Amino acid sequence: MPVTIAPQVYWVGAIDWTMRDFHGYLTEAGSTYNAFLIVDEKVTLIDTVKKGFLPEMLARIREILPLERIDYIVCNHVEMDHSGSLAELARIARPEKIFCSSLGKVGLTRHYKEDLPLVEVKTGTEVSLGRHHLMFLETPMLHWPDSMMTFLKEEQILFSSDGFGAHYASSQRLIRNRHDCPPKYFYELKKYYANILMPMGTLVTQLLDKVAKLGLEFRMIAPDHGCVYENPDWVLEAYRTWAAGVTQPKGLVIYDTMWHSTEMLAHAFMEGLMDAGVEAQLHHLRATHYSDTVTELLDAGLMFLGSPTINNNMFPSMGQFLTYLKGLKPKKKAAMAFGSYGWSGQAVGLINQELEAMQLKPVHEGLQVRYIPDPDELAQARELGARLAREHLLKSA
Ligand SMILES: Cc1cc2nc3c(=O)[nH]c(=O)nc-3n(C[C@H](O)[C@H](O)[C@H](O)COP(=O)(O)O)c2cc1C
Ligand SMILES: [Fe+2]
Ligand SMILES: [Fe+2]
Repeated sequence: MPVTIAPQVYWVGAIDWTMRDFHGYLTEAGSTYNAFLIVDEKVTLIDTVKKGFLPEMLARIREILPLERIDYIVCNHVEMDHSGSLAELARIARPEKIFCSSLGKVGLTRHYKEDLPLVEVKTGTEVSLGRHHLMFLETPMLHWPDSMMTFLKEEQILFSSDGFGAHYASSQRLIRNRHDCPPKYFYELKKYYANILMPMGTLVTQLLDKVAKLGLEFRMIAPDHGCVYENPDWVLEAYRTWAAGVTQPKGLVIYDTMWHSTEMLAHAFMEGLMDAGVEAQLHHLRATHYSDTVTELLDAGLMFLGSPTINNNMFPSMGQFLTYLKGLKPKKKAAMAFGSYGWSGQAVGLINQELEAMQLKPVHEGLQVRYIPDPDELAQARELGARLAREHLLKSA
């Protein structure tokens, strides 16, 4: 069934209930690929769905009108979860025009190698559909160079592509306000920001400022994943806060271990954080997926990173985690390394190097313990956990 989100505007996307891995990101709640149909003199489809979900989208559109009635398609973003069925749809529906950004044209041509009726649009370009008008807003690098958003002026709906999205499969299509947002959804919204948009915080802030300057008011924001937001101010506010790198009095102990010595230290750091009265979370890198760890890290002000030394190196799960984190360019976090070793003990130094490479200066040179920690070393870790929490999380308190 299509879902009416405004008069003559329908959600006609697809729900992916079983997807659990989205290019390496753990999607425990599945996802949706949202597409929206505007029925006017020019029938317009905003975005399409991932390959394999075309029949589901087509069935929804057919409940409204025959596919041949589609005149225009807007492609806000080339990534294949939104464009994967575009070429096939174009063969079936034969649209007159497919609107995209100039880099969208390059990207779509490289992906589909077909002669599509692509029409380039820029920020401010307006297209009349009859009673409705679309206006485009280029959002380069949010999160691909081709990315743009589409504003439906009369209904004040922003079709925001991946921006403000969440990987969340549900029968619920609309979130009416902050109170109507299930806690699990809010977590997925935050997870999406942390894993996809964290590196572009400055661009997110610039976009929000630009939108405010243009005086654009959104009655609704309709992203390409998750639910459509009515009264979306709370979503904009959440993005503003995350983009500014605002942190909470919250510390994470992130580690791996072979024979539990590093783990003993990890627990001691946790005790210290709890002594200081801050929120503390323990993330074992093979128990918690890195996409969840970075979600929790988004608003944490302090992290302890622990790894034993293995073959003159850090543990591979820590290497993986730090590689991922470096790409996300985290800001404003105090960090410290720790670990157990047997003879050469390189792990702590290597973690410190990675922290420096992400421009996160370690706030302590690191705690290294030979083989199994003794009570004094555990007490030292606990004391350090509490002291760094007080210094870096509770400074203003
Ligand atoms: C396969 C393997 C390779 C190791 N390689 C090194 C090494 O190159 N340098 C070193 O200092 N310790 C090395 N160790 C010793 C561990 O770092 C040491 O046992 C440490 O206490 C393990 O901490 P964990 O209990 O947190 O796993 C190695 C241990 C194992 C099992
Ligand atoms: Fe994307
Ligand atoms: Fe997407």
